[in-house]
Amino acid sequence: MRLYCLGIVVEQTNTVQETISDTLVDIEREAFREIESVEAIEAMERLATKYIGRKGILTAFLRNITQLPVDERPSAGKNANLLKVRLEAAFNELKSRLESATEDSGSLIDITLPGRVPARGTLHPVTKISREIISIFSRIGFEIAEGPEVETDYYNFEALNIPKYHPARDMQDTFYVSENIVLRTHTSPTQPRIMEKVKPPVRIIAPGKVYRCDSDVTHTPMFHQVEGLMVDHNVSFGDLKGTLSTFINQLFDDDIALRFRPSFFPFTEPSAEVDIECVMCRGEGCRVCSRTGWLEVLGAGMVHPAVFENVGYDTDEYTGFAFGMGIERLAMLKYGIDDLRKFFENDMRFLRQF
Ligand code: FA5
Ligand code: MG
Repeated sequence: MRLYCLGIVVEQTNTVQETISDTLVDIEREAFREIESVEAIEAMERLATKYIGRKGILTAFLRNITQLPVDERPSAGKNANLLKVRLEAAFNELKSRLESATEDSGSLIDITLPGRVPARGTLHPVTKISREIISIFSRIGFEIAEGPEVETDYYNFEALNIPKYHPARDMQDTFYVSENIVLRTHTSPTQPRIMEKVKPPVRIIAPGKVYRCDSDVTHTPMFHQVEGLMVDHNVSFGDLKGTLSTFINQLFDDDIALRFRPSFFPFTEPSAEVDIECVMCRGEGCRVCSRTGWLEVLGAGMVHPAVFENVGYDTDEYTGFAFGMGIERLAMLKYGIDDLRKFFENDMRFLRQF
């Protein structure tokens, strides 16, 4: 048993030198044991005072060195000073560890900090406008239909009165999967698919993706269309015009000019294309509208009797209209976007605006 607070306790069996070094070893061992169990800054400061403070154990040891024989003082002093340096370093290290732990736990329990809101995505503009289009047509009595994107040549072309080798096939640059399977070039194949299954009256819209080998500011190889089809007794071209004008007026809040232009599709007769005043230049003519002041948004017409015959509808009893519109074109006009390809580049700076 040794008393290290006085430093120099000489046991009769030991030499003075051994006793001094034993005492320092004991002081060191005890100090580091205590340091290990310290968990708060205040306790650490008390401990530093206890060992290396003005009245600390090690300080007392150094002061009492004069009681040693002269020749032993230098090495005892040197060892005691080295221990003091180690203890100071240990206390400094412990202090900074305790301080940073206090900061950390402080921020963990600061319940007044506002929560971090995770980044939330937004709907893609094409999704947004598709939903809007669907809701407008639902309100005027149209049901939603769907068809496959990988389509047979029959539904994409033949049932729509476009026989093989007919020049009208060149109107759309087709991606062929095999000789008789294509990526649908338009949503019109949903027309014969629906009519084969249900008897009139028919009133549907069919939104979806379509594919064409095509790319510039108003064309992309994949884009979206919404097909519309209405078949009943006495459906007229006037019904088509009324339906489309109502739709366009509801989709664009401000009054926007629209025009029907005679056109040709093998599956409608008569046929028309509908243009909307270019919102980029307000009809002045710009890059987006190819300097015409108008942007084509849809094709339409009265269902051709040949199509009715293909699906077994009585052409004397029923008439109908159909239309197919480009969703991205409508989105361009509605959101004022000058390049259709931006919809598919997935640039976050672009998408975050919606
Ligand atoms: C058709 O696809 C016909 N099926 C439309 C139709 C349906 C006519 C029913 C009659 C009855 P068209 O190829 O013109 O027609 O395309 C229709 C619309 O799709 C265009 O007015 C345009 O708005 C859009 N569109 C066409 N090609 C592209 C493209 N590459 N990128 C983006 N939009 C396009
Ligand atoms: Mg066209």
